[in-house]
Amino acid sequence: MGNLFLLSSVYAQQNFKPKKAILKTIDDDYKNAANQYQLMMKELEPNRFPKTYYPQTDKFETSGSGWWCSGFYPGTLIYLYDQLKDPALLTEASRMMDVLAKEQYNKTTHDLGFMMYCSFGNALKTEPSDAYKQILINSAKSLASRFDPKVGCIKSWDSKPGDYLVIIDNMMNLELLFWATKATGDSSYYKIAVTHANTTMKNHFRPDYSSYHVVNYNAETGAVQQKRTAQGYADESAWARGQAWGLYGYTVMYRETHDEKYLDQAEHIAAFILNNPNLPADKIPYWDYNAPNIPDALRDASAAGVMASAFLELCRYSGSKNAEKYFHTAETIITNLSSAQYTAKAGTNGGFILMHSVGSLPGKSEVDVPLTYADYYFIEALNRYKNFEKK
Ligand code: GLY
Repeated sequence: MGNLFLLSSVYAQQNFKPKKAILKTIDDDYKNAANQYQLMMKELEPNRFPKTYYPQTDKFETSGSGWWCSGFYPGTLIYLYDQLKDPALLTEASRMMDVLAKEQYNKTTHDLGFMMYCSFGNALKTEPSDAYKQILINSAKSLASRFDPKVGCIKSWDSKPGDYLVIIDNMMNLELLFWATKATGDSSYYKIAVTHANTTMKNHFRPDYSSYHVVNYNAETGAVQQKRTAQGYADESAWARGQAWGLYGYTVMYRETHDEKYLDQAEHIAAFILNNPNLPADKIPYWDYNAPNIPDALRDASAAGVMASAFLELCRYSGSKNAEKYFHTAETIITNLSSAQYTAKAGTNGGFILMHSVGSLPGKSEVDVPLTYADYYFIEALNRYKNFEKK
């Protein structure tokens, strides 16, 4: 298994070369992003995290550290610091992580992977820190406290007694658990991640490998009692960001376990996305693949960013035909997100990099706006492209 894994990685490295023109675009993107985030820093009140910006009313919205997106702003700053080495970026990331640190003990959310691993996890890769390591271990403990072996999943959302709600997004929080096993030698985190991924593979996916957003398990028996949406168009629709979370999540599962069934799952999800007649030619998906007003439906730049980043990892593990498709799709997404269609003009957009994401259309919240996670996964995709030949 190990050898196969290495061989397939080598295939992508030998056969794809990042294009000079795209690398030049990426360098411009970094400079623009750093300037935008320098602007945003000035807008932030102490202890507040950026959330979104409403261009029509010039309203910059912020959150406290408990919001699921609080790790993306420091995470993006760290990614930009890694590229540009401007110390102001790291100073601002550290200032915000001091505010975020208390969430390590938060047992009321499954989003600790997003919140803590995208921030402290990246910080740790940039500079070793025993303090950050301990924060991440405590965060993994808090996340693991939400796992119930009867259900075989980490609980995503607290709800009424008897319900046990798990959302596809939760796949993104498992990377923190894999890290925790490597850091502590305690295999229980690894086992929880694997069990959660297996249960999700069994119950969240339809025969065409699109996924439901929410599965509601019976808290007593672990039986599935309902499959539905929360942020998608309909219970039976394919919410675009949910598909992207699944793609990214099962790619990470393969990286961390080398178990081929996760590679198969990621490739099936990729096929659902790439063969979908409603995926536009520019590969920036509508907010839901079944949105009723396609081609006039809103696009979701955040889903596109997550897809680009995931494809740039998945192409390392896949056989030739698919690997090429994934790599070129990521290039198309990067090119289009970098265009004036999605990248905001300098000095506008509340300092966010990208425009046109959708938080929750059914909830009428964060519709066609910038979002911290759109910026984060876009910059992550740029880094993965730029560093493609290094790994
Ligand atoms: N619930 C996380 C998301 O909106 O994708």
